[in-house]
Amino acid sequence: MSIIMWRTAIGAVVSIALGGAGFSALAAEAPKKLSAHDPQIKGILAQMTLDEKIGQMTQPDQEAIKDLNDIETYSFGSILSGGSSDPKAGNSLEAWTNLYDTLQGHALKTRLGIPLLYGIDAVHGHNNVLGAVMFPHNIGLGCTRDAALVEKIGQITAQEIRATGIQWAFAPCVTVPQDERWGRTYEGFSEDPAIVQVLGVAAVRGLQGPSLSSDPLRVVACAKHFIGDGGTAYGSARGVKLDQGDTRVDEATLRRIHLPGYIATVDAGVGTIMPSYSSWNGKKVSGDKKLLTDLLKTELGFEGFLISDYSAIDQVDRDFKTAIGMSINAGMDMGMVPTKYVQFITLLKQLVNEGTVPMSRIDDAVTRILRVKYALGLLDKNRSQLADRSLWKDFGSAEHRAVARQAVRESLVLLKNDQHVLPLKKAVTRIHVAGKNADDLGNQCGGWSIDWQGKSGNITPGGTTILAAIKHAVAKETAVTYSSDGQGAEGASVGIVVVGEIPYAEGRGDRTDLALDAQDLAAIANLKKAGIPVVVILVSGRPMIVTDTLSQCDAFIAAWLPGTEGQGVADVLFGDFKPTGKLSFSWPRAMQQIPSHVGDANYDPLFKLGDGLSY
Ligand code: GLC
Repeated sequence: MSIIMWRTAIGAVVSIALGGAGFSALAAEAPKKLSAHDPQIKGILAQMTLDEKIGQMTQPDQEAIKDLNDIETYSFGSILSGGSSDPKAGNSLEAWTNLYDTLQGHALKTRLGIPLLYGIDAVHGHNNVLGAVMFPHNIGLGCTRDAALVEKIGQITAQEIRATGIQWAFAPCVTVPQDERWGRTYEGFSEDPAIVQVLGVAAVRGLQGPSLSSDPLRVVACAKHFIGDGGTAYGSARGVKLDQGDTRVDEATLRRIHLPGYIATVDAGVGTIMPSYSSWNGKKVSGDKKLLTDLLKTELGFEGFLISDYSAIDQVDRDFKTAIGMSINAGMDMGMVPTKYVQFITLLKQLVNEGTVPMSRIDDAVTRILRVKYALGLLDKNRSQLADRSLWKDFGSAEHRAVARQAVRESLVLLKNDQHVLPLKKAVTRIHVAGKNADDLGNQCGGWSIDWQGKSGNITPGGTTILAAIKHAVAKETAVTYSSDGQGAEGASVGIVVVGEIPYAEGRGDRTDLALDAQDLAAIANLKKAGIPVVVILVSGRPMIVTDTLSQCDAFIAAWLPGTEGQGVADVLFGDFKPTGKLSFSWPRAMQQIPSHVGDANYDPLFKLGDGLSY
């Protein structure tokens, strides 16, 4: 299928989906082309020294900058906060805003005063900041099939990001995970590229608006990780099995499965794209000109800029200077070089002076970076580039939480409901709740939540655990008791046990086995032993092996990683919202079935992509 045919097909799917969700006007509107700003940018480029140009292509991590004067010395184009790179003053809204303003203040003192783009992984809300609303991770949003909702989530996320001054989110992840043993499965909307492209576009539109613009309540988005990050072969990665491994497929398969999300988000005007750590048939994507330039920039016409993944350039070749030359010449425009920014700048300058990296490539990279900055209004000398603290009033607001609660409701997938045990009555004698994930905000938020890897416990203010939500939902005469292990449930009207995974991110979440742990199995067994109806709720970043568990319970709900608004789970449990979620991943019966997808000859999962019951 030619790119033109692909674009037509994808455009139709996206327009129908967005239009169907009441976005017909937006779906029809093509974003403004970033290259429209080139005449103005040419003038700026002409004033820039080689050092200033290379500075714009450099992105250090804020925690690695020991002397803030480096910002003026090197004229960085961007600074990031990697997963746990937090303000020294802590993760409060004020600390983050002060950090941004301090660093931007230094950038504004450079000779040309080109402001920084500050980048952060706001992948399910502004998830690094205490008190932010944390939405369901993408795997749950994929089960909503609700593009309008995903767009609204992007818009709120952009607003909460801007409250800290930051203007760039490393989201949406438009990966198409093909093996749920991968630790980043939950960052994907679906194993189905058609779902990924529609919701990826919705996320970009929510974050950026219909076009990248100077709207102070929007940010620039980043489609990631191009290309094939979710298709690596099991065992092809060093150590962790899948993450950053090798995608061993022919070009037609790569295009069919892993390209639609990029075609669609490029057409939606995404300002940045992050190439993957992974390889395609043994070649590092972050050093592959055929992919970064020929496919993405020439064939798809991507006019924004490519930001490397965190130290991903280092992996392109054993020798850092060679790696820099290969990656920049392949089409990488900005290096996420968290700690090695001085070496990057020094070596890239050498590569230019030696003629290994032509000045035309440098000028193209800087033009692309300045296009995004110009579109965002960063080059407008009449605009303040510091944070607008008036936006703090809506940060983590009840209105924002209400949208997250709706997302939780729509993301839940009901997969078993014998004797219509659900919805539960609110007025009963006693409900017994069990399980390690019933009263743990950190576990229900998952990775990328305050900390890079996330963590168990009461990680952030303003959230509601599933247990707290149940207590809030029931009639006042109903007793709600809790034991993590399920002991003491005898005599209750019903038992609810919340099981699943504890937080992880990236390769640390790669697993060889997706069985429930012994603690969870014991809690379920204890409820079963009590002789009461048992409702199992799975809080996890992926389908897990629950085939035997299904015979132990009367009802089963996949809740994924719902984020801070646990009330959405109670709304479904008690019927205040009828479940509408549909699986966006196939659900394996056993580990031996993995990987298995719609279309496979022997496709026989426990639950099919698209399955989901209601009341
Ligand atoms: C990480 C991830 C990427 C993230 C980046 C910055 O390693 O691969 O998704 O945006 O580094 O934190």
